[in-house]
Amino acid sequence: MSFGRMPIANAFLRGKAEFATEYFYELKPALCPACKCFQIVEIPRPEQMFHDHYAYFASTSSVMSRHFAAMAQDLMARYLTGPDPFVTEIGSNDGITLQNFAKAGLRHLGIEPSANVADAARARGVATLSAFFGVETATSIVAEHGNADLFIATNTMHHIEDINAVAAGVAILLKPSGVMIQEDPYLGDMVEDCAYDQVYAEHMYIWSITALNNAFGRHGLEVFHVEHNHHHGGCMRYHLGRKGFRPPSPELNAALAKEQSLGLDRPDTYDRFKARCEESRDRLMALIDGYKRQGKRVVGYGATAKSATVINWCGITPDHLDWISDSTPAKQNTFSPGAHIPVVAPERFRAEPPDAAVLFAWNHFNEIDAKERSWRDAGGKWILPVRKVEAI
Ligand code: SAH
Ligand code: TMP
Repeated sequence: MSFGRMPIANAFLRGKAEFATEYFYELKPALCPACKCFQIVEIPRPEQMFHDHYAYFASTSSVMSRHFAAMAQDLMARYLTGPDPFVTEIGSNDGITLQNFAKAGLRHLGIEPSANVADAARARGVATLSAFFGVETATSIVAEHGNADLFIATNTMHHIEDINAVAAGVAILLKPSGVMIQEDPYLGDMVEDCAYDQVYAEHMYIWSITALNNAFGRHGLEVFHVEHNHHHGGCMRYHLGRKGFRPPSPELNAALAKEQSLGLDRPDTYDRFKARCEESRDRLMALIDGYKRQGKRVVGYGATAKSATVINWCGITPDHLDWISDSTPAKQNTFSPGAHIPVVAPERFRAEPPDAAVLFAWNHFNEIDAKERSWRDAGGKWILPVRKVEAI
C-alpha cells in the first residue's frame, strides 16, 4: 500500500524559506515474502534523518525515563553480575538509558550519530561515540574496550536500513555469553490496533519475533526471551543471544504462537490492514470537519514523528489545525513537515485553550491528560487520531 508523498517525520522547518526545498519520498510499506519483515520500500538516506539538529530528545518524557531506569536495573540484575561488565548501546540519544549504568559506575559506551543529542548525553556523564554502528565501529570498540556483556538498541533497530551491518557488528562485539536487548513498537500491536502512524521513514521496519529471528539468525544470533509492554502504543522487548546459548523461554513460545494466530507472516493480513487504515482516515477527517463546521478551534497536541504520517496521509492542513503544541524546545517555532502547520510551545495551549485537540502523542495519554485536566474539565476534547478514532 502507499501512504503517498511524505516528508521526513522529524524534519521540522525553521522558516518559510525552507518550504521550497523540502525533501519528500513515497511512504510505501510492504511485507517481505522471504524474511516476513514488514518494511518500507523507498528509504531516504540516513543523513536526511539523523544529523546535528535531530529533534527527538528521549528524556522529554518522564514516563520513558522511568521505564528505561527500571529496564537498566532489571538488566543489571539479570546479566551484569560478573566482574567489570561492559555495556554498549546504539541510538543512546540523550543518555536516557545509559545514564543509569553510568551512575552505577559501570563501564559503558553509547553510539549515537546525531551530534546534538550525543552532546546532551555527554553533559549527563554518558560516554558517547558519534558514529553509525556497523562492523567497523564494532571492531574498533572491541580493540579499545574489549567485548561487551550487553548491547542495547531501544527504538533504534527500526531506524537502520542495513540490518546485516548491525547484526554482524553485534556478533563481533558481544562476548559468547553476551546479550542483545532490542525494544521497539511491535508489529502485532500495530496490526491489531490499526496504529498505522508507527510507519514512517525512521520506522522503516516494524519488527516481529519471526522477522527478527530471520534477520539475526544469519549472524548466529537468536531471540531467547521476550517481554511485552504498553509504551509507544505497544512494544516488544527482545532478548537475543548466540544460537543455543540459552533455552527459549515459555514467554517466547507463547508470543510466537500468538504471531501465528495474528497471521503476521501472511499477505492477506495486510490487505485487511490497508482497508482498516482507509476507514480510520475517513473517520478522523469527519470528526475534525464536524468541529470546523461548528466554527470551533481545533489544534494538535504533540508534534510527534508519527503525526507526520497521519497529517500528510489524511490531508490535515493549517485550515484544520491552527497550530500544534509541543514541549520540545527544538520543535517550537517551526512548521510541521509536509503540511506546514505551526508548532508552538505549550504556553499557547494554556493562553488560547482550543475546543478540541488532536492528540498525536496518544501514546503518552495518561501523562498528558493528567497535565491538561483543567482544560478537559472545562469541556475540552481530545480527538484520538488512530486506533479507536474518537473524541473524548
Ligand atoms: N534509545 C532512545 C532513543 C531512540 S531514537 C529511546 O529508546 O528513546 C533513535 C536514535 O538512534 C536516534 O538518536 C538516532 O540518532 C540513532 N541512530 C540512528 N541510526 C543509528 C545507527 N546506525 N547507529 C547508532 N544510532 C543510530
Ligand atoms: P514520542 O511519541 O515520539 O515520544 O513524541 C512525543 C512528542 O510529544 C514529543 O515531541 C514531545 C511531545 N510531548 C508534549 O508536547 N507534551 C507532553 O506532555 C509529552 C509527554 C510529550
